[in-house]
Parts: sequence; C-alpha cells; structure tokens
Amino acid sequence: MNLKKQAALQAVKYVHSGQRIGLGSGSTVSYFIKALGDLVKSGDLVDIQAVSTSDETSIQAQDSGIPLVDLDHSGNLDITVDGADEIDHNLNLVKGLGKALLREKIVAAHSNEFVIIADESKLVSQLGDSVPLPIEVVKFGIDAQEKWLQNLGCVAEIWRSEDGSMLLSDNGNPFIRCWFKDGIKDPSTLDKIIKSRVGIIEHGLFLGMATRVIVANMTEVVELTI
Ligand code: 5RP
Repeated sequence: MNLKKQAALQAVKYVHSGQRIGLGSGSTVSYFIKALGDLVKSGDLVDIQAVSTSDETSIQAQDSGIPLVDLDHSGNLDITVDGADEIDHNLNLVKGLGKALLREKIVAAHSNEFVIIADESKLVSQLGDSVPLPIEVVKFGIDAQEKWLQNLGCVAEIWRSEDGSMLLSDNGNPFIRCWFKDGIKDPSTLDKIIKSRVGIIEHGLFLGMATRVIVANMTEVVELTI
C-alpha cells in the first residue's frame, strides 16, 4: 500500500472550486498535485489557482493542468497542502529536507489552512530525533555560521552534494544541516535563537503553523488537528 498516496488523496477533499491553493514540495505532495490535476482535467474542480513552493512543484503543476499564480497576485490562500520530515504530537514540524523550506514557510504563512500529509514514519515523540534540522543561510560567512551553530549543541555541516559542491535552494542559497544528538528539547527557544542570527535566512522548524495533519498507516488514514 502506498501510504503517501493515501494521505494525499484524503487531503484532496479539503480543496474546493474557486479556491487559491498553496502547493508544497516533495514526494508526498506530488501525489496530491497529481490528484488535483485529475480533478481539474475532469472539470470537477474549477476556478482554482495555485501558488507553488519550488521549481519542481511548478513543473509538475503545469504538466498537470493546474493554473499557477504568484503569491504577490493571489491574495491570501484558502489552503496549503505540504509534506513534512517530522511531526510531533503538538503538530510542530521539521521541514525542508527537500530544500524548499523558505518558500514553503512563506506560502504557509499566507494560508488560512495549512494541511500536512505524511506517512506514519514522519511521526516522532520529539523533533530532531530522526532527521537533521536544515537551515538556509547566505553564502557569505557560511563557515563561521557553521561554527556558531555547533555551539548550540548540534553537529552542524554545510549540506553538500556527492561531488562536494554546496546544495542550493531555488533561491540560490546554501544550507547547513544540524543534527541534535538527543533531539530538540526546546523548539520554541531554538526557533528564536536561530532566527535572530544575522546571515541566517530561515530554518526548518514550523511551529504552531499546521492546522491539520493527515497521516496514513497500514490500516487507516488518521487526521490530527490542534
Ligand atoms: C521539502 C519538504 C518536504 O515536504 C519534506 O521533505 C517531505 O518530503 P517527502 O514528502 O518527499 O517525504 O519539506 O522542503
């Protein structure tokens, strides 16, 4: 059974004709985009416009016949559907291991509803338990930022591809990934500390943003709300 697809199909029921929709990024969202495109093609969903969070999502949305609009021209969005790398019991998230966290956070911040779709492997008791926290930074002084982040108690490393070059976001910025050995004990404090550091653009903690989480496991699709 394809759990990511099950969660994505469940999310489609929250989308209605006439809405402005934010499209997240990643493999789970790609099932959602496919399902949305099918509804547009069949005429069951009309007068929708979507705001994309990555170049990859834009390409898939265009190929699927979903009309795209810039966030600058869309007004506030009715709903955004996105994936996550980790989800805790307060519906706080780690996101961004698909390198789209900045645009994802901007789009989510302009959405009335922020719906997360995932398979059950993304549920954790504490953020940072299973994945590193990705942080988008400016290139200037990146080695110094890496050292500063290490002092927060994590193992921080510039995110590189196999050939050693820095991976870049669609905005052209590199990332540092931070592994917290014992997880992230106080996400709210960490959020404030990292955000207040000059040269850091955005991090992958999405706190208090998700309004609904749809999680598929082998027997059912469960919906969690705040
Ligand atoms: C991209 C993201 C993705 O939503 C997250 O990485 C989950 O991806 P997937 O659905 O492929 O597991 O935050 O920046």
